[in-house]
Amino acid sequence: MATPVRIGIVGLGQRALQHLKCLSGIPAAEIVALCDPFPENLEEEKLQGYVDGFTLGEIRTHTSFTDMLDAGGLDAVYFCIPPNRHDGEVIASTKAGLGIFAEKPVSLYYDEAVEMDQAITASGVIACVGFNQRHVPNHEAIRDFVQDKRLVMATTVTNGTLESHSVKHTRTEDLGGPGNRVWAASAAWSGTTVVEAGIHQLDTMRYWAGDVAWVRADYVHRHADDIEDGGDNPYAYSVTFGFESGLVYNLLMSRLRKTFYGDGYSDLMWDRGHLKIEGGSPVAYYYEGPYPPQTQPSQQDLRHEIHVPEPTRDGTRHISECFVRAVASGDGSIMRNTFHSSMNSHAAVLAANASDQLGGQKIDLNSFARDAEYARFRTKPST
Ligand SMILES: NC(=O)c1ccc[n+]([C@@H]2O[C@H](COP(=O)([O-])OP(=O)(O)OC[C@H]3O[C@@H](n4cnc5c(N)ncnc54)[C@H](O)[C@@H]3O)[C@@H](O)[C@H]2O)c1
Repeated sequence: MATPVRIGIVGLGQRALQHLKCLSGIPAAEIVALCDPFPENLEEEKLQGYVDGFTLGEIRTHTSFTDMLDAGGLDAVYFCIPPNRHDGEVIASTKAGLGIFAEKPVSLYYDEAVEMDQAITASGVIACVGFNQRHVPNHEAIRDFVQDKRLVMATTVTNGTLESHSVKHTRTEDLGGPGNRVWAASAAWSGTTVVEAGIHQLDTMRYWAGDVAWVRADYVHRHADDIEDGGDNPYAYSVTFGFESGLVYNLLMSRLRKTFYGDGYSDLMWDRGHLKIEGGSPVAYYYEGPYPPQTQPSQQDLRHEIHVPEPTRDGTRHISECFVRAVASGDGSIMRNTFHSSMNSHAAVLAANASDQLGGQKIDLNSFARDAEYARFRTKPST
């Protein structure tokens, strides 16, 4: 396929505006169409507020996805809509032979994601999920560092605040959702914080450590008297992911009211040391001298800052550069995930919700994907 790759963007909200900015600076990409059901999200003046110097020019705008697809002239589509709003658009684009860049999570229901995955596999189009964390230089350097190590346990703590959720661009108030447009706080829209946000941490762990085999979860649910504007997601989440390699990964997240300060860290252990990420460069602690040592090694002897090449490179821009190159060349191996390879991340976080609802049951992901006992968690309710 010749470049520039002709791109349509579906859903012009918070995430798409970031993609619009990055794609506008990628010479091999040409934005040809924008689609959003709410005309205000397609206005040039609004878009310029987020992307300096942006002009619509020849770019088509559509309030109907079908109209955008029927108008043709596209090579690939970015889907940046809330995960509960998908309604066959990915499959229709796939059937039209278009490359797919779908923002995570691609659905709140595993079976719907499977239908998308099967259509993509059948058509052979290039497709990926927006796991930009795989393209963050720190994470790339950690991946290189841990490749020859036997990982045993990892922990991520994310102390999040309720107030840090953004007011989104979807007119949720017109769609039976939260009146304040903070849909990431609502379980019906976001599928819980683990599904909407924790999927990033989990997928990054998969980038380092391979696939997840089982999950077990306990959430601390929000009291009814603390729910405002449909923001009913739990206070806190404790999820354990068991990896096929034997690694056990603890993901601890919270979304607390009136706290205003959020922070977090990750710690990754292998059988001979551990690595910490608390912002800045990752630091690993391990011993590499003769064993046993003559004297107790000092902390300084054990401390190793991980070298991060290109530390300022932007992950969101880089994932799009890779996707655009993949569509142009037809070579999906340039990408760090495909839609298909991302299914394990989706299964893991959706099964975490099921585990919590089943009182912390340990759920094997193969069973979750297949067995009748989990069908009610996988199936999208008919509207
Ligand atoms: N990868 C990341 O780092 C990252 C960051 C933020 C959001 N996201 C994901 O991006 C997706 C969108 O989130 P957001 O923050 O941009 O939300 P948002 O509400 O700000 O934007 C969504 C946009 O989609 C439009 N929309 C809704 N339904 C639509 C439909 N059926 N067809 C076309 N347009 C539709 C809305 O009008 C809105 O403009 C979510 O899945 C979210 O989890 C990913």
